[in-house]
Amino acid sequence: MSVIKLVTKNFRNLNDATIDFHSQLNFFVGDNGSGKSSLLEALFFLGHGKSFRTSKLDALACHETTNFVVSVRDGNNRQLGLSRDISTGSTTIKIDGEFQNRLSVLAKNIAIQIVTPESFKLFFGGPRERRRFVDLGMFHVKHSFAQQWKNFNRVLKQRNACIRLNHHSSASNAMLSYWTEQFCQMSAEVASVREEYSLTLINELDGWLTLLLPSLKSRVTVQYLRGWPQKRELEEVLFSNQEREAKYGYSLYGAHKFDVKFLLDKQPLETQLSRGQQKLFLLALTFTQAKLIARVERVKPILLIDDIGAELDINSRKALSKALEILDCQVVITAISNDVLTPFFERFNDGICNNVCSENEKTITTIENYKVFHVKHGEISAMSPNDSDLKTETAIE
Ligand SMILES: Nc1ncnc2c1ncn2[C@@H]1O[C@H](COP(=O)(O)OP(=O)(O)OP(=O)(O)O)[C@@H](O)[C@H]1O
Ligand SMILES: [Mg+2]
Repeated sequence: MSVIKLVTKNFRNLNDATIDFHSQLNFFVGDNGSGKSSLLEALFFLGHGKSFRTSKLDALACHETTNFVVSVRDGNNRQLGLSRDISTGSTTIKIDGEFQNRLSVLAKNIAIQIVTPESFKLFFGGPRERRRFVDLGMFHVKHSFAQQWKNFNRVLKQRNACIRLNHHSSASNAMLSYWTEQFCQMSAEVASVREEYSLTLINELDGWLTLLLPSLKSRVTVQYLRGWPQKRELEEVLFSNQEREAKYGYSLYGAHKFDVKFLLDKQPLETQLSRGQQKLFLLALTFTQAKLIARVERVKPILLIDDIGAELDINSRKALSKALEILDCQVVITAISNDVLTPFFERFNDGICNNVCSENEKTITTIENYKVFHVKHGEISAMSPNDSDLKTETAIE
């Protein structure tokens, strides 16, 4: 799906906003503190039921208000809405007017990926973000994964509870062995589908890297770490770590501990690439995942890129605008000035496709295929082509 209209009420500094999006490319331009990231946060919130900036939902409500609402209408005329009442701490989810009681239903309808100036630090900073990234793709690309992962987590919880039972009666030992057996079986199943997905991801990545990081001389490879040592059975690893697990009180190995490491010339990518290059790599990986999600045709991915100018020089931005042209999904981009966006305006105004476009994609990327909005003190307005602020002539739908 693509977002046609977004309505917010009391959300951060946006207050009451109504935005009619372009189905492809949307640029939001404004000064520091104007509300650009807040806008992306509102969209992200609808796709994930949480923020990418804070774990405190109540921080999303505009100061001195006690509830906030975010809702969207999509290309199929479906309505998704979320509201939060701070005084009662309750969140209400509605899809097409019907109440839903699980935030996870939202994720089934909308696949939102985000790249912020901090993303690459998080991504290369530890396994947590890499796990989150891969599992988002798994969730949308492998339909059985959501249920599989839910079952796995249920078993993990049971096993952890058994580990924390520190009296060693024969009954508690039997219970632990029961859950350990289940846990090992499910870990192996989850690890195998994840590995398969990670390899697909890396195979598809090459094309995007050629476009975004043409200077790379070697091929990026992926090292998939399944969550327990290679060449050893999980059951045996857990058995030899019984005491450590009892001390920590949770499962130290298993499918929840997986990681994907990216290597260049057998070295960790982050030690080989500059900051800007790391960001381009992450964009390439995100584009790859978006394409994989789009291919499944259950949901259309929506890509959010916050502060596109950060870390990227003019050539990188030109390469990115070329990549965006090929990527057939809705993109929402923020920037602090129009100057940063010049390569995008030029490319998308002339409608010229490079030779990697298929005929089909060529029809999508013709002129007038983006919208530009100005953000000022939380107020958002669409800019018209005659706006003097917009230095390059832009086309509005
Ligand atoms: N709950 C809230 N209620 C009202 N205003 C808020 C709330 N939370 C944050 N703000 C303010 O909203 C403003 C917009 O923040 P936001 O991060 O969206 O800006 P931005 O346009 O992305 O800026 P930058 O270019 O610096 O990234 C900030 O001034 C911030 O202090
Ligand atoms: Mg911001």
